[in-house]
This record gives sequence, C-alpha cells and structure tokens, in this order.
Amino acid sequence: MFKQALALSLFQAVANAAPAGTPVQAAAAPPATFTADPSIGPGGSSYTDSPHFRVYGATGTTGTNTVNMLEAAYSCFVDTLAWRSSGLSFNDASDAGPYKKVNVYSVSSLSGNAAGVMHSDAGMSWLEVVDTYLTVPGVTVHEYGHGLTYAAKTWVDQGNTGAWWETVANWVADTYKTSPLCATARSKYGQSTSATEIDLNTIIGNSYLVLVDGTANYYEQWPFLSYLTYNPDNFSGLGQSTVYQGFAQYSKNSNETPLHTYARLLKSGTIQQVVGRYWARMAFADIGHPTAQSVFLAQRNSLNYANLDSQGSGVYKVKSARQPRYMGANIVPLKKSGTVTVTAKITTSGSYTATLSIRNTSTGVTRYVDFASGSASASVSSSEEAMVVVANTPALIVHDAFNIPSTVSKGLDYTLTLTGATA
Ligand SMILES: *[C@@H]1O[C@H](CO)[C@@H](O)[C@H](O)[C@H]1NC(C)=O
Ligand SMILES: *[C@@H]1O[C@H](CO)[C@@H](O)[C@H](O)[C@H]1NC(C)=O
Repeated sequence: MFKQALALSLFQAVANAAPAGTPVQAAAAPPATFTADPSIGPGGSSYTDSPHFRVYGATGTTGTNTVNMLEAAYSCFVDTLAWRSSGLSFNDASDAGPYKKVNVYSVSSLSGNAAGVMHSDAGMSWLEVVDTYLTVPGVTVHEYGHGLTYAAKTWVDQGNTGAWWETVANWVADTYKTSPLCATARSKYGQSTSATEIDLNTIIGNSYLVLVDGTANYYEQWPFLSYLTYNPDNFSGLGQSTVYQGFAQYSKNSNETPLHTYARLLKSGTIQQVVGRYWARMAFADIGHPTAQSVFLAQRNSLNYANLDSQGSGVYKVKSARQPRYMGANIVPLKKSGTVTVTAKITTSGSYTATLSIRNTSTGVTRYVDFASGSASASVSSSEEAMVVVANTPALIVHDAFNIPSTVSKGLDYTLTLTGATA
C-alpha cells in the first residue's frame, strides 16, 4: 500500500528547487551512518537504530531483526543494484544530502486491515507496519520497496504507473527473499533465503487478464519484472538494472506506462516480443527465477487451463471469457503420445505473439519455437511436453491500470488448429 497523493506538492517543490543556472553540486559519498530525524512521522522515544533506519516502537530481538532485514534490503538495492538511496530527500535535486534514516513505525493496526503503508513527508518516505508483520519481509520490505520507488522520483504523481507500484514492491520483496542478486546482502546481515510467494493461480490460471490489472493481478504480476531482470532470452538492453532503469529512463511527467519505458530500454527486439516470450516461458515458470519452477511443478495439476472449446477436427476456439486481454495470454498444454510432429496454426484478426513451448520432462531443458506467419511446427519427442502460448500483443496503449479502458480490456478472439496433438 502507498499513499501517492501526498507527494503532489512535493513534486512541484522539486521543480522549483533548482532554478535554471543553479550550479549542481557534485554528490558527496554518503556517510556511514545517516542522521535520525524524528520529525518524519510521529517520532517517539522507544526505537532501534541502524545506520540507514530507525524502527520506532520495537526494541530487543524484534527491533534488531527488523533493522537487520532492512539493512540487507538497503545493501541489495542501493549498494548492489545502485538504486537512488532512500536516505536522500525527494527534494534533493543534486543528491548532495543530508542523508537521513528511513523511519519505520510499529503500530497495532492500520485502516483497511492493511499490514503496512508507506507515507512521505518533507521528501522522505516513512513506513508504518503492523507489529506482528514487522519482521516479515513480504510486508516490511514490500513497503520499503515503495520507499525506494518514491526515492527514485519519476513515478511519483504519474497515475499510469500507480498499479505498478505494487508490482514493483512485491518484486522488491521477492528479490530480497529469493534472488542470488541479494545473496551477498542477505548473508552480510544474517538473513536467510526464504520461499517465494509466486501466485500461479493468478499468473497462470488467469493469464488472460491485462498484464497488470489494478483490480485483479497487480500485486501478483511481479514475475514479469523478474523475467526482465533475469533476462533468460538475452534481450539486449534488459537485465539486472531494468527495474531501476524503468524509473531512471521514465519520460518525465509524461504519464507513460512502465511498459513504454521498458520498450525504450530495449536495444534489440520489441516489447511485444518480450511480453510474448515472458508468457512462453511462464508455461513452465522458466523465467530465470531460482525457485518459481519448483512451485509450478508442485502446483501445475491444480491450475486452470480451460481456455479453449473444441470445435472438432483439431480446431479450437478461445472461450470468450478467457480471450487474452492487453499483454495477457493463454497457455494451452497439449496432449500427445510418443514422438510426433506438432503443428499449430492461429487464425485471428488481432495482433499476437505465439510460441510453441517445449520442455524435456527428464532433463527440464526447454526450447521455444516462435510462430511465423500464423503457425509453428516442431518434432516433439516422447520425453518432451509442449504447450501453445498465445499472447495478445498490440501496439502499446497509454492507460491507467486502475481504470482500464475498453481498448485495453478487449480480448483477442482466435481459433487454434492442431495436428499431431490435441488441446
Ligand atoms: C543467454 O546468454 C547466456 C550467457 O551467455 C547463455 O548461457 C544462454 O544460453 C543465453 N540464452 C539464450 C536463450 O540465448
Ligand atoms: C530428453 O532427455 C532425455 C534424458 O536425458 C534424453 O534421452 C532425450 O534425448 C532428451 N530429448 C530431447 C528431444 O532432447
């Protein structure tokens, strides 16, 4: 949760802060220990301090565990991944400092049954977290993810990034918990690797939804950001700095969507190909994430794949309620016996990116065959399984994912014709 509206006047303040011609000071190295500022949030007399955080209302083991977790997150995102420091004010145009601690308040409850919330004051983020969740990274590091997004500046007051704040915050929490990118930071502060909370019922079971829909899957769609980060298809321009570059390269005050920014980061291929390949790999949760696939293998038999209606003779029509919406997809497992040549054809008037996703069930080795001119064909051996993945990939549309227009919710109508296998 975050309260973005609070930042409106701050954005104007930064615009006024450095008139043209003001010399920009060189950024000084940050101090080892940041300054505490009890005027950010309600303050208090009981707290636990660490170099970059002050946690009010928590002492002893809880306080220590909370600041160690937050310091590990700071170390991963700011030191390793080079995000703008959460110690710098939003209003600091030259990053000269002062550097302040992020204040975190342990509270007994929050409105709307929230577990945590991010606020901002005087250009600093501050967090409230319900006491029972204080040491839970899925809550506290998620809220800190909002603080880091706020410190990165460019998404503030850009409503078309609004729903994606939650996608990013959950990606920050998952990356903190599971990623090799944060392994050094976790070990430095005695934090263990923990289980991913990937929600495959939403991601795969409802893959037809708009990629990020602020009523349905915006907290859940963080694996898309993991895919961009791990970049298993080696798209030039994507990689471990992509989420931060999504802030740094955001076209200022344009109110573009994050996909517009990611599209600009690409130095080869198109964002439609990236989205298509994300879904092709999501067929087997093969996105470069260290533990998502083991969750997939444990849960795949209970996921909803009822996307098509058979018309007979190997022809299938997408169910109208499951037509893939903007940048969403259908994932269709195929049935076959032995070694066969599978051919799949798609008929539609829409714009799509489709892939035959193939996985060796003994070795786990995957391969992905792109559709060209409406079809794809591959020999699929007796030791392999295959799925057809159809993503709705039109030209990008500027929109607010909290208020999806009909151009974005419009589904892709298509028929799929199969030989060598059935759906
Ligand atoms: C991407 O690059 C890595 C490192 O060079 C390589 O191991 C991998 O096979 C490449 N992946 C693809 C899909 O080309
Ligand atoms: C799949 O893996 C098995 C076991 O290693 C191997 O024998 C087989 O050749 C592989 N199949 C393909 C098509 O790569």
